[in-house]
Amino acid sequence: MKAAVLGFGNVAAATIESFMANQELIRAKTRRPIKFVRVATRTPARAEGKVPAGCVVSNDCWGLVDDPQVDVVLELTGDVPLGRQLVLRALSNRKHVITANKALLAKHGEEIMSMAEEVGRNVLFEGAVAVSIPIIKTLRESAAANRISSITGILNGTSNYVLSQMSEHGADFAGAVAEAQRRGYAEADPTLDVSGEDAAHKLILLASLSFGVPIDFSAVQFKGIQDIDRLDIGFAKRLGYQIKLIAQASMGPEGLDVSVQPTLVPIASMLAKVSDSMNGIALKGDLLGPAFLYGSGAGGRQTSSAVLADLIELANREDAGGAGGAYNMGFGHGHRRAQGVAYTRDRVGAFYIRLRLDDKAGVLAKVSTVLAQANVSVNALLQDGGQHEQTDLIIITHDITSSQLNNMLPALYEAAGPGHSVVIHPVLGIH
Ligand SMILES: NC(=O)c1ccc[n+]([C@@H]2O[C@H](COP(=O)([O-])OP(=O)(O)OC[C@H]3O[C@@H](n4cnc5c(N)ncnc54)[C@H](OP(=O)(O)O)[C@@H]3O)[C@@H](O)[C@H]2O)c1
Repeated sequence: MKAAVLGFGNVAAATIESFMANQELIRAKTRRPIKFVRVATRTPARAEGKVPAGCVVSNDCWGLVDDPQVDVVLELTGDVPLGRQLVLRALSNRKHVITANKALLAKHGEEIMSMAEEVGRNVLFEGAVAVSIPIIKTLRESAAANRISSITGILNGTSNYVLSQMSEHGADFAGAVAEAQRRGYAEADPTLDVSGEDAAHKLILLASLSFGVPIDFSAVQFKGIQDIDRLDIGFAKRLGYQIKLIAQASMGPEGLDVSVQPTLVPIASMLAKVSDSMNGIALKGDLLGPAFLYGSGAGGRQTSSAVLADLIELANREDAGGAGGAYNMGFGHGHRRAQGVAYTRDRVGAFYIRLRLDDKAGVLAKVSTVLAQANVSVNALLQDGGQHEQTDLIIITHDITSSQLNNMLPALYEAAGPGHSVVIHPVLGIH
Protein backbone atom coordinates (compact mmCIF):
# COMPACT_ATOMS: atom_id res chain seq x y z
CA MET A 1 0.00 0.00 0.00
CA LYS A 2 1.53 3.26 -1.13
CA ALA A 3 1.29 6.17 1.29
CA ALA A 4 2.03 9.86 0.75
CA VAL A 5 2.34 12.64 3.32
CA LEU A 6 1.21 16.28 3.16
CA GLY A 7 3.28 18.54 5.45
CA PHE A 8 6.51 17.77 7.24
CA GLY A 9 6.19 19.27 10.71
CA ASN A 10 6.21 17.62 14.14
CA VAL A 11 3.63 14.95 13.40
CA ALA A 12 4.65 14.08 9.83
CA ALA A 13 8.36 13.88 10.68
CA ALA A 14 7.62 11.73 13.76
CA THR A 15 5.29 9.48 11.73
CA ILE A 16 7.98 8.69 9.18
CA GLU A 17 10.65 8.35 11.87
CA SER A 18 8.47 5.97 13.93
CA PHE A 19 7.58 3.98 10.81
CA MET A 20 11.25 3.52 9.95
CA ALA A 21 12.17 2.64 13.54
CA ASN A 22 9.39 0.01 13.87
CA GLN A 23 9.02 -1.13 10.28
CA GLU A 24 9.78 -4.81 10.93
CA LEU A 25 7.14 -4.92 13.66
CA ILE A 26 4.66 -3.08 11.44
CA ARG A 27 5.40 -5.43 8.52
CA ALA A 28 4.75 -8.39 10.81
CA LYS A 29 1.29 -6.99 11.58
CA THR A 30 0.12 -5.97 8.10
CA ARG A 31 -1.28 -8.06 5.27
CA ARG A 32 0.06 -5.65 2.66
CA PRO A 33 3.45 -3.94 2.99
CA ILE A 34 3.32 -0.16 3.48
CA LYS A 35 5.61 2.06 1.45
CA PHE A 36 5.99 5.84 1.75
CA VAL A 37 6.35 7.10 -1.82
CA ARG A 38 5.89 10.90 -1.58
CA VAL A 39 6.09 13.84 0.80
CA ALA A 40 4.88 17.29 -0.23
CA THR A 41 5.35 20.28 2.03
CA ARG A 42 5.91 24.04 1.96
CA THR A 43 9.55 23.71 2.99
CA PRO A 44 10.88 20.48 1.43
CA ALA A 45 14.34 21.07 2.94
CA ARG A 46 12.89 20.10 6.34
CA ALA A 47 12.43 16.53 5.06
CA GLU A 48 15.88 16.15 3.56
CA GLY A 49 17.56 12.93 4.72
CA LYS A 50 14.56 12.07 6.92
CA VAL A 51 12.46 9.95 4.54
CA PRO A 52 12.85 6.29 3.47
CA ALA A 53 14.78 5.47 0.30
CA GLY A 54 12.68 6.01 -2.80
CA CYS A 55 10.32 8.52 -1.17
CA VAL A 56 10.17 11.68 -3.29
CA VAL A 57 10.04 15.03 -1.48
CA SER A 58 8.67 18.19 -3.14
CA ASN A 59 6.43 21.18 -2.53
CA ASP A 60 3.83 19.87 -5.00
CA CYS A 61 0.82 19.06 -2.77
CA TRP A 62 -1.58 18.94 -5.74
CA GLY A 63 0.72 16.60 -7.68
CA LEU A 64 0.73 14.31 -4.63
CA VAL A 65 -3.07 14.06 -4.30
CA ASP A 66 -3.36 13.51 -8.09
CA ASP A 67 -0.62 10.86 -8.24
CA PRO A 68 -2.26 7.60 -9.45
CA GLN A 69 0.23 5.37 -7.61
CA VAL A 70 -0.77 6.77 -4.17
CA ASP A 71 -3.37 4.68 -2.26
CA VAL A 72 -3.57 6.74 0.94
CA VAL A 73 -2.90 10.41 1.68
CA LEU A 74 -1.81 11.46 5.19
CA GLU A 75 -2.96 15.08 5.65
CA LEU A 76 -0.64 16.48 8.35
CA THR A 77 -0.40 20.18 7.47
CA GLY A 78 -2.81 21.64 10.07
CA ASP A 79 -3.99 24.10 7.39
CA VAL A 80 -7.81 24.14 7.32
CA PRO A 81 -8.73 25.73 3.94
CA LEU A 82 -5.91 24.01 2.05
CA GLY A 83 -6.41 20.78 3.99
CA ARG A 84 -10.09 20.76 2.98
CA GLN A 85 -9.30 21.20 -0.71
CA LEU A 86 -6.51 18.61 -0.71
CA VAL A 87 -8.55 16.03 1.21
CA LEU A 88 -11.59 16.46 -1.08
CA ARG A 89 -9.35 16.15 -4.12
CA ALA A 90 -7.61 13.05 -2.73
CA LEU A 91 -11.04 11.47 -2.10
CA SER A 92 -12.31 12.41 -5.55
CA ASN A 93 -9.21 10.61 -6.86
CA ARG A 94 -10.44 7.59 -4.84
CA LYS A 95 -7.67 7.62 -2.26
CA HIS A 96 -8.10 6.86 1.42
CA VAL A 97 -7.28 9.72 3.79
CA ILE A 98 -5.73 9.80 7.25
CA THR A 99 -5.68 13.12 9.08
CA ALA A 100 -4.85 14.46 12.54
CA ASN A 101 -6.44 17.82 11.72
CA LYS A 102 -9.30 18.18 14.21
CA ALA A 103 -10.03 21.78 13.21
CA LEU A 104 -10.50 20.63 9.60
CA LEU A 105 -12.86 17.81 10.58
CA ALA A 106 -14.82 19.93 13.09
CA LYS A 107 -15.48 22.57 10.43
CA HIS A 108 -15.73 20.51 7.22
CA GLY A 109 -16.21 16.97 8.52
CA GLU A 110 -19.72 16.50 7.09
CA GLU A 111 -18.61 17.52 3.61
CA ILE A 112 -15.52 15.31 3.82
CA MET A 113 -17.38 12.27 5.21
CA SER A 114 -20.15 12.62 2.60
CA MET A 115 -17.59 12.66 -0.18
CA ALA A 116 -15.81 9.64 1.37
CA GLU A 117 -19.13 7.78 1.47
CA GLU A 118 -19.89 8.72 -2.12
CA VAL A 119 -16.54 7.45 -3.44
CA GLY A 120 -16.33 4.49 -1.04
CA ARG A 121 -13.12 5.43 0.72
CA ASN A 122 -12.09 5.71 4.37
CA VAL A 123 -11.20 8.85 6.29
CA LEU A 124 -9.45 7.81 9.50
CA PHE A 125 -8.53 10.27 12.25
CA GLU A 126 -7.32 8.54 15.42
CA GLY A 127 -4.59 11.21 15.71
CA ALA A 128 -7.10 14.06 15.83
CA VAL A 129 -8.32 13.48 19.42
CA ALA A 130 -6.31 12.74 22.59
CA VAL A 131 -3.51 11.05 20.67
CA SER A 132 -2.30 8.42 23.16
CA ILE A 133 -5.89 7.43 23.92
CA PRO A 134 -7.46 5.19 21.26
CA ILE A 135 -10.84 6.88 21.67
CA ILE A 136 -11.85 6.91 18.01
CA LYS A 137 -11.37 3.16 17.61
CA THR A 138 -12.99 2.62 21.03
CA LEU A 139 -16.15 4.44 19.97
CA ARG A 140 -16.19 3.15 16.39
CA GLU A 141 -15.32 -0.46 17.15
CA SER A 142 -14.77 -1.64 20.73
CA ALA A 143 -17.90 0.05 22.13
CA ALA A 144 -19.91 -0.18 18.89
CA ALA A 145 -22.73 -2.27 20.39
CA ASN A 146 -23.41 0.26 23.15
CA ARG A 147 -25.89 3.08 23.48
CA ILE A 148 -23.52 5.75 24.73
CA SER A 149 -25.15 8.04 27.30
CA SER A 150 -22.25 10.38 28.01
CA ILE A 151 -18.69 11.16 27.16
CA THR A 152 -16.82 13.49 29.48
CA GLY A 153 -13.21 14.44 28.99
CA ILE A 154 -10.18 16.58 29.50
CA LEU A 155 -9.25 16.98 25.86
CA ASN A 156 -6.81 19.88 25.84
CA GLY A 157 -3.40 19.26 27.42
CA THR A 158 -2.36 22.94 27.37
CA SER A 159 -5.36 24.09 29.40
CA ASN A 160 -4.97 21.18 31.78
CA TYR A 161 -1.30 22.04 32.30
CA VAL A 162 -2.17 25.70 32.99
CA LEU A 163 -4.92 24.77 35.47
CA SER A 164 -2.64 22.22 37.17
CA GLN A 165 0.09 24.86 37.58
CA MET A 166 -2.45 27.28 39.06
CA SER A 167 -3.93 24.65 41.37
CA GLU A 168 -0.83 22.74 42.45
CA HIS A 169 1.87 25.43 42.34
CA GLY A 170 -0.09 28.63 42.92
CA ALA A 171 0.93 30.05 39.52
CA ASP A 172 -1.13 32.84 37.97
CA PHE A 173 -2.69 32.38 34.52
CA ALA A 174 -0.07 34.39 32.57
CA GLY A 175 2.83 32.69 34.38
CA ALA A 176 1.37 29.22 33.80
CA VAL A 177 0.82 29.94 30.08
CA ALA A 178 4.42 31.20 29.76
CA GLU A 179 5.70 28.01 31.42
CA ALA A 180 3.54 25.89 29.07
CA GLN A 181 5.08 27.75 26.12
CA ARG A 182 8.59 27.26 27.49
CA ARG A 183 7.97 23.50 27.75
CA GLY A 184 6.52 23.30 24.23
CA TYR A 185 2.97 22.49 25.45
CA ALA A 186 1.49 25.77 24.18
CA GLU A 187 1.76 27.57 20.85
CA ALA A 188 3.15 31.12 20.66
CA ASP A 189 -0.52 32.12 20.37
CA PRO A 190 -2.29 29.87 22.89
CA THR A 191 -5.81 31.19 22.13
CA LEU A 192 -7.11 28.08 20.37
CA ASP A 193 -6.20 25.98 23.42
CA VAL A 194 -7.12 28.23 26.36
CA SER A 195 -10.38 29.47 24.76
CA GLY A 196 -11.79 25.93 24.76
CA GLU A 197 -12.08 25.91 20.96
CA ASP A 198 -9.57 23.09 20.40
CA ALA A 199 -11.39 20.90 22.95
CA ALA A 200 -14.68 21.80 21.23
CA HIS A 201 -13.27 20.66 17.85
CA LYS A 202 -12.46 17.29 19.40
CA LEU A 203 -15.73 17.03 21.34
CA ILE A 204 -17.95 17.41 18.28
CA LEU A 205 -16.09 14.53 16.62
CA LEU A 206 -16.61 12.34 19.70
CA ALA A 207 -20.28 13.38 19.94
CA SER A 208 -20.84 12.53 16.30
CA LEU A 209 -19.21 9.10 16.73
CA SER A 210 -21.10 8.42 19.97
CA PHE A 211 -24.58 9.59 19.02
CA GLY A 212 -24.64 9.52 15.22
CA VAL A 213 -25.28 13.27 15.00
CA PRO A 214 -23.84 15.52 12.28
CA ILE A 215 -20.44 17.10 12.84
CA ASP A 216 -21.93 20.52 13.54
CA PHE A 217 -19.33 22.64 15.29
CA SER A 218 -21.84 25.45 15.86
CA ALA A 219 -23.74 23.11 18.22
CA VAL A 220 -20.93 23.19 20.80
CA GLN A 221 -21.03 25.89 23.43
CA PHE A 222 -17.50 26.50 24.61
CA LYS A 223 -15.89 28.66 27.27
CA GLY A 224 -12.19 28.69 28.12
CA ILE A 225 -10.03 29.09 31.18
CA GLN A 226 -8.83 32.67 30.63
CA ASP A 227 -11.05 34.12 33.35
CA ILE A 228 -10.52 31.47 36.02
CA ASP A 229 -9.67 33.17 39.27
CA ARG A 230 -7.10 31.50 41.56
CA LEU A 231 -9.49 32.33 44.36
CA ASP A 232 -12.08 29.92 42.92
CA ILE A 233 -9.45 27.21 42.47
CA GLY A 234 -8.67 27.58 46.20
CA PHE A 235 -12.32 27.60 47.32
CA ALA A 236 -13.10 24.59 45.10
CA LYS A 237 -10.23 22.69 46.72
CA ARG A 238 -11.44 23.52 50.21
CA LEU A 239 -14.81 22.04 49.24
CA GLY A 240 -13.23 18.88 47.76
CA TYR A 241 -13.06 19.74 44.05
CA GLN A 242 -10.59 20.56 41.26
CA ILE A 243 -11.46 23.00 38.47
CA LYS A 244 -10.86 21.36 35.07
CA LEU A 245 -11.71 22.32 31.50
CA ILE A 246 -14.36 19.67 30.88
CA ALA A 247 -15.73 18.71 27.48
CA GLN A 248 -19.02 16.90 27.82
CA ALA A 249 -21.52 15.36 25.46
CA SER A 250 -24.55 13.66 26.92
CA MET A 251 -27.84 12.48 25.51
CA GLY A 252 -30.86 13.04 27.72
CA PRO A 253 -34.63 13.21 27.24
CA GLU A 254 -34.36 16.88 26.23
CA GLY A 255 -31.72 16.15 23.57
CA LEU A 256 -27.98 16.32 23.20
CA ASP A 257 -25.91 18.59 25.41
CA VAL A 258 -22.43 19.38 24.03
CA SER A 259 -20.32 21.88 25.89
CA VAL A 260 -16.80 22.75 26.95
CA GLN A 261 -16.43 24.78 30.11
CA PRO A 262 -14.46 25.11 33.35
CA THR A 263 -16.13 22.69 35.74
CA LEU A 264 -15.64 21.50 39.31
CA VAL A 265 -14.85 17.79 39.50
CA PRO A 266 -14.73 15.85 42.81
CA ILE A 267 -11.14 15.32 43.98
CA ALA A 268 -11.87 11.57 44.31
CA SER A 269 -12.87 11.26 40.64
CA MET A 270 -10.58 9.92 37.89
CA LEU A 271 -10.88 13.20 35.99
CA ALA A 272 -9.47 15.16 38.95
CA LYS A 273 -6.38 12.97 38.84
CA VAL A 274 -5.65 13.91 35.22
CA SER A 275 -2.88 16.39 35.84
CA ASP A 276 -0.30 18.42 33.89
CA SER A 277 -0.63 18.05 30.12
CA MET A 278 -2.40 14.67 30.23
CA ASN A 279 -5.85 13.88 28.83
CA GLY A 280 -8.57 11.66 30.27
CA ILE A 281 -11.93 10.51 28.95
CA ALA A 282 -14.83 8.98 30.90
CA LEU A 283 -17.35 7.08 28.86
CA LYS A 284 -20.70 5.54 29.78
CA GLY A 285 -22.35 2.87 27.68
CA ASP A 286 -25.43 0.76 28.44
CA LEU A 287 -23.46 -2.48 28.04
CA LEU A 288 -19.94 -1.60 29.12
CA GLY A 289 -21.01 0.65 31.99
CA PRO A 290 -18.47 3.29 32.98
CA ALA A 291 -15.00 3.24 31.43
CA PHE A 292 -12.06 5.57 31.76
CA LEU A 293 -9.18 6.17 29.34
CA TYR A 294 -6.03 8.14 30.18
CA GLY A 295 -2.96 9.20 28.21
CA SER A 296 -0.99 11.97 26.52
CA GLY A 297 -2.97 14.45 24.49
CA ALA A 298 -0.18 15.74 22.28
CA GLY A 299 3.36 15.20 21.01
CA GLY A 300 4.69 14.25 17.59
CA ARG A 301 5.76 10.75 18.65
CA GLN A 302 2.47 10.06 20.44
CA THR A 303 0.48 11.28 17.44
CA SER A 304 2.60 9.11 15.13
CA SER A 305 1.36 6.08 17.10
CA ALA A 306 -2.25 6.96 16.23
CA VAL A 307 -1.53 7.89 12.59
CA LEU A 308 0.40 4.67 12.01
CA ALA A 309 -2.39 2.63 13.63
CA ASP A 310 -4.78 4.05 11.02
CA LEU A 311 -2.30 3.20 8.28
CA ILE A 312 -1.94 -0.37 9.57
CA GLU A 313 -5.75 -0.66 9.69
CA LEU A 314 -5.98 0.27 6.00
CA ALA A 315 -3.13 -2.07 5.06
CA ASN A 316 -5.00 -4.93 6.69
CA ARG A 317 -8.14 -4.58 4.61
CA GLU A 318 -8.68 -7.65 2.46
CA ASP A 319 -10.12 -5.41 -0.22
CA ALA A 320 -7.25 -3.12 -1.04
CA GLY A 321 -9.38 -0.69 -3.00
CA GLY A 322 -12.66 0.31 -1.41
CA ALA A 323 -13.82 1.44 2.01
CA GLY A 324 -13.93 -1.27 4.63
CA GLY A 325 -14.02 -1.88 8.37
CA ALA A 326 -16.28 0.17 10.58
CA TYR A 327 -18.04 3.22 9.12
CA ASN A 328 -15.89 6.37 9.24
CA MET A 329 -18.25 8.03 11.75
CA GLY A 330 -19.37 4.82 13.45
CA PHE A 331 -22.89 4.84 11.96
CA GLY A 332 -23.85 3.99 8.39
CA HIS A 333 -24.61 7.12 6.40
CA GLY A 334 -28.34 6.40 6.23
CA HIS A 335 -28.44 5.85 10.00
CA ARG A 336 -26.89 9.14 11.03
CA ARG A 337 -29.41 11.67 12.28
CA ALA A 338 -28.91 14.17 9.51
CA GLN A 339 -31.87 16.24 10.63
CA GLY A 340 -33.94 16.84 13.66
CA VAL A 341 -31.23 16.57 16.30
CA ALA A 342 -32.43 18.34 19.41
CA TYR A 343 -29.72 20.17 21.32
CA THR A 344 -30.39 21.27 24.84
CA ARG A 345 -28.72 23.81 27.06
CA ASP A 346 -30.89 22.90 30.02
CA ARG A 347 -28.57 20.64 31.92
CA VAL A 348 -29.49 19.11 35.25
CA GLY A 349 -26.63 19.24 37.72
CA ALA A 350 -25.05 20.99 40.66
CA PHE A 351 -23.50 24.46 40.44
CA TYR A 352 -20.76 26.35 42.25
CA ILE A 353 -21.80 29.91 42.96
CA ARG A 354 -19.45 32.48 44.51
CA LEU A 355 -21.01 35.73 45.63
CA ARG A 356 -18.94 38.67 46.77
CA LEU A 357 -21.07 40.49 49.30
CA ASP A 358 -20.92 43.35 51.74
CA ASP A 359 -19.96 41.92 55.10
CA LYS A 360 -22.95 43.22 57.00
CA ALA A 361 -26.01 41.95 58.78
CA GLY A 362 -28.96 40.83 56.67
CA VAL A 363 -27.07 40.05 53.44
CA LEU A 364 -26.90 36.31 54.08
CA ALA A 365 -30.60 36.27 54.89
CA LYS A 366 -31.32 37.95 51.55
CA VAL A 367 -29.35 35.28 49.68
CA SER A 368 -31.12 32.50 51.59
CA THR A 369 -34.48 33.97 50.60
CA VAL A 370 -33.48 34.07 46.91
CA LEU A 371 -32.38 30.42 47.05
CA ALA A 372 -35.55 29.35 48.86
CA GLN A 373 -37.80 31.23 46.42
CA ALA A 374 -36.06 29.52 43.49
CA ASN A 375 -36.42 26.14 45.21
CA VAL A 376 -32.65 25.68 45.18
CA SER A 377 -31.23 23.64 48.04
CA VAL A 378 -27.66 23.90 49.24
CA ASN A 379 -25.23 21.00 49.36
CA ALA A 380 -22.22 22.89 50.75
CA LEU A 381 -21.60 26.39 51.98
CA LEU A 382 -18.40 28.27 52.72
CA GLN A 383 -17.90 31.82 53.85
CA ASP A 384 -14.46 33.32 53.55
CA GLY A 385 -13.34 35.98 56.04
CA GLY A 386 -14.04 39.50 54.88
CA GLN A 387 -11.49 41.80 53.34
CA HIS A 388 -12.28 45.51 52.95
CA GLU A 389 -15.69 44.90 54.51
CA GLN A 390 -16.54 42.31 51.87
CA THR A 391 -16.94 38.60 52.13
CA ASP A 392 -17.05 35.69 49.66
CA LEU A 393 -19.97 33.33 50.03
CA ILE A 394 -19.55 30.04 48.19
CA ILE A 395 -22.52 27.78 47.56
CA ILE A 396 -22.58 24.35 45.99
CA THR A 397 -26.16 23.56 45.08
CA HIS A 398 -27.87 20.21 44.90
CA ASP A 399 -28.94 19.20 41.39
CA ILE A 400 -30.98 21.91 39.67
CA THR A 401 -31.73 22.75 36.05
CA SER A 402 -29.74 25.48 34.35
CA SER A 403 -33.00 27.33 33.65
CA GLN A 404 -33.73 27.27 37.40
CA LEU A 405 -30.29 28.83 37.90
CA ASN A 406 -30.78 31.41 35.15
CA ASN A 407 -34.18 32.42 36.52
CA MET A 408 -32.63 32.94 39.95
CA LEU A 409 -29.66 35.00 38.70
CA PRO A 410 -31.22 38.51 38.58
CA ALA A 411 -32.32 38.16 42.21
CA LEU A 412 -28.85 36.89 43.18
CA TYR A 413 -27.20 39.87 41.49
CA GLU A 414 -29.60 42.14 43.32
CA ALA A 415 -28.81 40.44 46.64
CA ALA A 416 -25.07 40.83 45.97
CA GLY A 417 -25.63 44.53 45.36
CA PRO A 418 -24.20 46.92 42.75
CA GLY A 419 -20.57 46.28 41.78
CA HIS A 420 -20.43 42.87 43.45
CA SER A 421 -19.47 39.83 41.44
CA VAL A 422 -21.11 36.45 41.01
CA VAL A 423 -19.01 33.55 39.65
CA ILE A 424 -20.71 30.36 38.47
CA HIS A 425 -19.29 27.01 37.37
CA PRO A 426 -21.03 23.67 36.85
CA VAL A 427 -20.13 20.83 39.21
CA LEU A 428 -19.76 17.22 38.08
CA GLY A 429 -20.62 14.11 40.03
CA ILE A 430 -18.11 11.27 40.28
CA HIS A 431 -16.86 10.07 36.85
N1 LIG B 1 1.72 18.35 17.39
C1 LIG B 1 0.87 17.62 18.06
O1 LIG B 1 1.12 17.23 19.21
C2 LIG B 1 -0.43 17.22 17.45
C3 LIG B 1 -1.26 16.31 18.13
C4 LIG B 1 -2.48 15.91 17.52
C5 LIG B 1 -2.85 16.44 16.32
N2 LIG B 1 -2.02 17.35 15.70
C6 LIG B 1 -2.45 17.86 14.40
O2 LIG B 1 -1.55 17.40 13.41
C7 LIG B 1 -1.44 18.36 12.38
C8 LIG B 1 0.02 18.73 12.19
O3 LIG B 1 0.53 19.27 13.40
P1 LIG B 1 2.09 19.57 13.59
O4 LIG B 1 2.29 19.78 15.05
O5 LIG B 1 2.89 18.57 12.89
O6 LIG B 1 2.20 20.98 12.84
P2 LIG B 1 3.54 21.68 12.30
O7 LIG B 1 4.72 21.21 13.06
O8 LIG B 1 3.22 23.13 12.25
O9 LIG B 1 3.69 21.12 10.80
C9 LIG B 1 2.85 21.47 9.75
C10 LIG B 1 3.57 21.10 8.48
O10 LIG B 1 2.71 21.36 7.38
C11 LIG B 1 3.34 22.27 6.50
N3 LIG B 1 2.34 23.20 5.95
C12 LIG B 1 1.55 24.04 6.66
N4 LIG B 1 0.77 24.75 5.81
C13 LIG B 1 1.10 24.33 4.59
C14 LIG B 1 0.66 24.70 3.29
N5 LIG B 1 -0.27 25.65 3.12
N6 LIG B 1 1.22 24.08 2.22
C15 LIG B 1 2.15 23.13 2.38
N7 LIG B 1 2.62 22.74 3.58
C16 LIG B 1 2.08 23.34 4.67
C17 LIG B 1 4.33 23.03 7.33
O11 LIG B 1 5.31 23.59 6.49
P3 LIG B 1 6.56 24.45 7.06
O12 LIG B 1 7.58 23.39 7.42
O13 LIG B 1 6.96 25.31 5.92
O14 LIG B 1 6.04 25.22 8.24
C18 LIG B 1 4.83 21.93 8.26
O15 LIG B 1 5.80 21.15 7.60
C19 LIG B 1 -2.32 19.53 12.80
O16 LIG B 1 -3.59 19.41 12.22
C20 LIG B 1 -2.43 19.37 14.32
O17 LIG B 1 -3.62 19.91 14.84
C21 LIG B 1 -0.84 17.74 16.23
